[in-house]
Amino acid sequence: MQKIIGTGLSGLVGSRIKELLSDRFEFVDFSLDSGVNILDKENLATAFEKNKDAVTILHLAAFTDTNAAWEQKGDKSDICYQLNVEGTRNILNLAQKYNQQLIYISTDFVFDGTKITPYIETDTPNPIEWYGETKYLGEKVILDSGYQNYNISRITYPYRAKFEPKVDIIRKVLTKLQNNEPVKMFSDQICTYTFVDDIAQSLGYFIENKSTGIYHLVGSSSHSPYEMCLEIAKVFNLNKDLISQSSLEEFIKSQPEGSRPWQKKLITSNQKAKDLGLNFKTLAEGLEKIKNQLNYGK
Ligand SMILES: NC(=O)c1ccc[n+]([C@@H]2O[C@H](COP(=O)([O-])OP(=O)(O)OC[C@H]3O[C@@H](n4cnc5c(N)ncnc54)[C@H](OP(=O)(O)O)[C@@H]3O)[C@@H](O)[C@H]2O)c1
Repeated sequence: MQKIIGTGLSGLVGSRIKELLSDRFEFVDFSLDSGVNILDKENLATAFEKNKDAVTILHLAAFTDTNAAWEQKGDKSDICYQLNVEGTRNILNLAQKYNQQLIYISTDFVFDGTKITPYIETDTPNPIEWYGETKYLGEKVILDSGYQNYNISRITYPYRAKFEPKVDIIRKVLTKLQNNEPVKMFSDQICTYTFVDDIAQSLGYFIENKSTGIYHLVGSSSHSPYEMCLEIAKVFNLNKDLISQSSLEEFIKSQPEGSRPWQKKLITSNQKAKDLGLNFKTLAEGLEKIKNQLNYGK
């Protein structure tokens, strides 16, 4: 079986990738729990040397709390920059040394959210908050190095049926509606929600086909958070009267100066990945899958 080094395999996205692809690849988990800290160059170099027969390194480890990241804005010594930029640099250097395919998982937060038409892979990023900026700087570390055996896969709002350690936005809303609690969400923001299983299958394809370049692995429909709630109520047959609208515009106005900026419209095109034959569900289709995986209502 092809050996894959993975970072961040204990996280929301990584753990599902491992779950779904373990019958095709042997994953070697580089995590703090398994004794590998990607910020410790010596420790990381030893771990790579032991696994130099791996063909691919799938790099998901990151500082992902966007609000906490904003508190660190501009501070290169803090954990967000260190992990997302310097951690990525450490990984890149060793992937280059052993000529391994480097798949770096990035985000649509590299964009500013002002484009009217969907963002495509050749659009120039312009991050507006610190998490997105550090993820983009991670992309730049790879692109500026000139290393050719890279793949940057940008994902957006990943959701899955189950994962106790971290609750995604879809499960947060689902739980509230199931508990008959009210939900108020922005109707003037647009996001692209992505079923994690589609991300996992696409990455399996990239590993097997040694695909390089930048790709958007994202859902096939985009919605306001308010519409997303209504879709959940519809698919799971829950009370839509619990859902009400609020405004991102108004929310931003109510925030003190210097607060974290928000992207207003993040529609990301998955056409390039679809042209390879990869499939991405719409939100309604993804929710149906989750409903089945949860045996909901059966
Ligand atoms: N979740 C989203 O909404 C979203 C959206 C777009 C893009 N992404 C990207 O997708 C990737 C995965 O996100 P996620 O939400 O699955 O992440 P997550 O659940 O927050 O998990 C983060 C992972 O990073 C690992 N990690 C942290 N510090 C480390 C270190 N020093 N050395 C080694 N590993 C370390 C953690 O391992 P431990 O468990 O050992 O701490 C954990 O596995 C990230 O690159 C993120 O930027 C996520």
